[in-house]
Amino acid sequence: MKRPFLLLLLPIPLLAGSGPQGTPPAPTDSLAREVVPRKHPFDSPLGRAFHDGRRKALAKAVGEGTILLRGAEDTRNYLEFRQSNDFWYLTGVETPGAALAIQTKDARATLFLPAADPFREQWEGPDLSPGKEAAEATGIEDVRDVGEFEEYVDRLKGRGLLYTSFAPEEIHATSRDRASGFERRRSSDAFDGRPGRERAFRAALEKRLGEATKVKDLSPILEELRRVKTKEEIEAMREASRIGGEGHVAAMRATRPGRFEWEIAAAARAVFDRLGSPGPAYMAIVGAGPNSLALHYSRKFRRIGEGEVVLMDFGPEVFYYTADITRTWPANGRWTKRQREVYEACLRAQEETLAAVKPGSTLAELARVTTKALAASGFAAYQRHGPTHYIGMAVHDVGSSAKPFEPGVCVTVEPGIYIPEENLGVRIEDTVVVTASGCENLSGRCPKDPDAIEAVMAGRDPAPAGEGDGPRR
Ligand code: GLY
Ligand code: MN
Ligand code: MN
Repeated sequence: MKRPFLLLLLPIPLLAGSGPQGTPPAPTDSLAREVVPRKHPFDSPLGRAFHDGRRKALAKAVGEGTILLRGAEDTRNYLEFRQSNDFWYLTGVETPGAALAIQTKDARATLFLPAADPFREQWEGPDLSPGKEAAEATGIEDVRDVGEFEEYVDRLKGRGLLYTSFAPEEIHATSRDRASGFERRRSSDAFDGRPGRERAFRAALEKRLGEATKVKDLSPILEELRRVKTKEEIEAMREASRIGGEGHVAAMRATRPGRFEWEIAAAARAVFDRLGSPGPAYMAIVGAGPNSLALHYSRKFRRIGEGEVVLMDFGPEVFYYTADITRTWPANGRWTKRQREVYEACLRAQEETLAAVKPGSTLAELARVTTKALAASGFAAYQRHGPTHYIGMAVHDVGSSAKPFEPGVCVTVEPGIYIPEENLGVRIEDTVVVTASGCENLSGRCPKDPDAIEAVMAGRDPAPAGEGDGPRR
């Protein structure tokens, strides 16, 4: 792998960095807790049994044929590599340029990894390559050089059904809604026209293998599996929500009239980073005053004014799972009468909607409950978005929106009231998991009672201690 020549000309001490100085910080027990403690850096924090279970469940759901998936390719920027959600879900592997095959009849997996590359390792550090270590880390015994993938594919000619995902991959802070829009624009651009990577893979398979091999879409089957979370996934989401809530408390406490919106995002981001999140689940949305009305406002360059509200919608990713949390608070730490009135109406709508999250309910049913609650306080006309969506590995997670909830389904509950003539936007959003009898609010420890928010901002209340608050709110 070539690096820019200029970089190689830098003086050696600059390239080498200055090395650790002084004593390292004391370990903290608030770091992200692995679901299964890792013994080796390449172990999955959810444990290899989780990924093995997902492969078996997928093989069973598909029924007949061969599953083929390509992992994310290496980055085209100097950002950390992040595996695509589907590939990580099925393998726990974070190596760029990998591929996976599963024979459904016995759920036998073959993992294809790039061969060890000493030059790359000099720059990036060690990575998984075909061999014993990869088999131990993943529990997949058959690990081959990715150079053999082409031949493996060609041998599938005439051997029945082939499944691969036709949906766009989700990598850094990606959800399918955003990625699909991007791909539609690019493929219909008269001066570009590139299809998505998955569409290109499908076309290549069809061309190589001919009519005797039918290539089918894996994504609806995979989406249904991902819609219902296992206990390991719920634990990861609980951890993301805990860290997200702590970030919101830090952001509330960093807020003063005169500060910039980006400073508030930075206060939360510092907490996410310190507690072990590798990156945000989506861009930080922090809007003061008129910017509180823009649903996905991400510029953050306004100076916060006295008497305004600050709306922050921001959550971390932890172990490939996301938290989606919004809180709204008064810039100067004290609600005005009007702000409190609007805020309390939104909070009531959120509480009523949370109470409706249970097995058998649906996304549409929650939207009806929110609208009814907002209508009761006279604010139904001030909604600008639906009050819920699935959440999981992607912040807007996959799954059929018509399906009734069952235990393990995770959704957000996020009513909003937006009053343009008052430059006042209020949204309150939590990440919750459906349980046997209702739901657990995973981000429920993040303050949202209006008095609790004032207390937190005045430094009177301790930061939330940890997990969600058990069943219900
Ligand atoms: N954070 C984006 C959303 O709430 O849907
Ligand atoms: Mn949301
Ligand atoms: Mn949100």
